[in-house]
Amino acid sequence: MINWLHSKLHRPEKGWDPVDPVWAQQYAAAEWQMVDNALLDKLEAQLGGLQGKRILDMGAGAGQYSVALAQRGAHVTWHDISHTYQRIAQQKAAVAKVNLHWSLGYLEETQALQPASFDLIFNRICWYYCQNDKAFAKQLCGLLAPGGLLYIHAPNSQFHGDTLSTSAQWRTVLNAGMGIKIGHPMLPPRGIATLFADLPISKLEADYRDPRNDVIWVWKASDGSRTS
Ligand SMILES: C[S@@+](CC[C@H](N)C(=O)[O-])C[C@H]1O[C@@H](n2cnc3c(N)ncnc32)[C@H](O)[C@@H]1O
Repeated sequence: MINWLHSKLHRPEKGWDPVDPVWAQQYAAAEWQMVDNALLDKLEAQLGGLQGKRILDMGAGAGQYSVALAQRGAHVTWHDISHTYQRIAQQKAAVAKVNLHWSLGYLEETQALQPASFDLIFNRICWYYCQNDKAFAKQLCGLLAPGGLLYIHAPNSQFHGDTLSTSAQWRTVLNAGMGIKIGHPMLPPRGIATLFADLPISKLEADYRDPRNDVIWVWKASDGSRTS
């Protein structure tokens, strides 16, 4: 509710941007240096090639994965709230000579995107910015084409170790226990996978080798029904 109200009062189309431009430049410079090509290869293999595939980079930031996926032949939609990151991503896309589709808004604001249309949704290090974790899982499932793949890399509540403030700890508990989300608390380890329990998926694979990050691969059922 609080995050929803905040989103109504702070509008990206009116120039609001939560990202500090100096930080954005630093983050972009670092992230553009360390694109994970092994991950891109794995995504490509899972999708049986990227040529012509429809991909949503959800919370795409500086666009390093949007551009890399487009360079491999995919039709990529960049979606993010930040003008600053959009400008950086647009410059990078121009240099790489790839065309991206641009979609500015909160994670929840995907009404202009076609439902059930994406072969891959790529969601890296921004899950916690959603306003309601369960609703966001459902929204992403709805955007996936039948048989489509959702890749999530999400830091969990262990990410900051013992350094979380008391207020942040309480917000984590409120969100995980009661679904009351104030700000952007991360879910507890292994929390995201549970959000898909009632959704029409055919397979979910979780990689918990790094205890501070949940890495989840979710395949939507081909016929829209839940099969596992
Ligand atoms: C840590 S960055 C990750 C960016 C990118 N996915 C990557 O892998 O580098 C988090 C991103 O979430 C975006 N973001 C933050 N709050 C958001 C919101 N409420 N809706 C949409 N995007 C948001 C930021 O603008 C930023 O691009």
